[in-house]
Amino acid sequence: MRVVVFESAESVTQFAADQVCRVIQTKNVPTLGLATGGTPLGLYRELIERHRKGLLSFKHVNSFNLDEYLGLSPDDDRSYHAYMRENLFKHIDIDLGHTHIPKTDRVDLDQSACEFEKAIADCGGIDLQILGIGSDGHIGFNEPGSSLASRTRIKSLTQRTRADNARYFKCLDEVPKMALTMGIGTIMESKSVMLLATGESKAQAIRDTVEGPISAMVPSSILQMHPQTTLAIDTAAASSLKNIEYYLESEQNRVAQRTTVNIS
Ligand code: F6R
Repeated sequence: MRVVVFESAESVTQFAADQVCRVIQTKNVPTLGLATGGTPLGLYRELIERHRKGLLSFKHVNSFNLDEYLGLSPDDDRSYHAYMRENLFKHIDIDLGHTHIPKTDRVDLDQSACEFEKAIADCGGIDLQILGIGSDGHIGFNEPGSSLASRTRIKSLTQRTRADNARYFKCLDEVPKMALTMGIGTIMESKSVMLLATGESKAQAIRDTVEGPISAMVPSSILQMHPQTTLAIDTAAASSLKNIEYYLESEQNRVAQRTTVNIS
């Protein structure tokens, strides 16, 4: 696991945007896994900016979003379909036919989940999966206790997640209780993963992810088993890490070595 700690959320954003650009520019048909929530908003703004400046095209990009609420139509402002439209897709040149968000506006949700998994496989898998993290260590909407081998399926949200996300709704009662989410096994098949976290509210979850035991009670801890995972976090999110000095030194070594050997 590579842990990269930045002084500010803005530096996390710049680093994350550079990683996304690298995947888009090195693959013929890049496939991105996308997250919603507050954390990736800065990244999406930066990607839009780079696209506006003519530095980045999404013409050949496929995308797969992690999750969608049950009970909200894609037109609902609070749905993740709307989030992606408003915060990224409508500002860039991505082919909307190549974007995939779990479909929850149909009766057969198991079928929806199967089709979503098949679409990922048909694209040859996800090259870079972007993740945020819940304060309880959830990734996607895989809440504590989720099978670490799970595939795309329906999950109930915990009260804590519903309370965290209530800021996007008029009141807690309006927050959906269930979602269709990419599974942990599905996420783990991504060729690379980049988890972003900023702010002190994520410090404990980051500590458990990096330095805790692997446990279904902290779904993000399974990333310790992924060979290509990078955590890009700010100092507040890193504030509970025990081995912080080692992570900082490792990055300094990496920068120093980069002048003599080929290292990303
Ligand atoms: C959203 C998602 C969630 C969020 C997490 C953190 O698609 O998959 O796991 O990444 O709930 O949300 P924020 O960034 O709002 O703190």
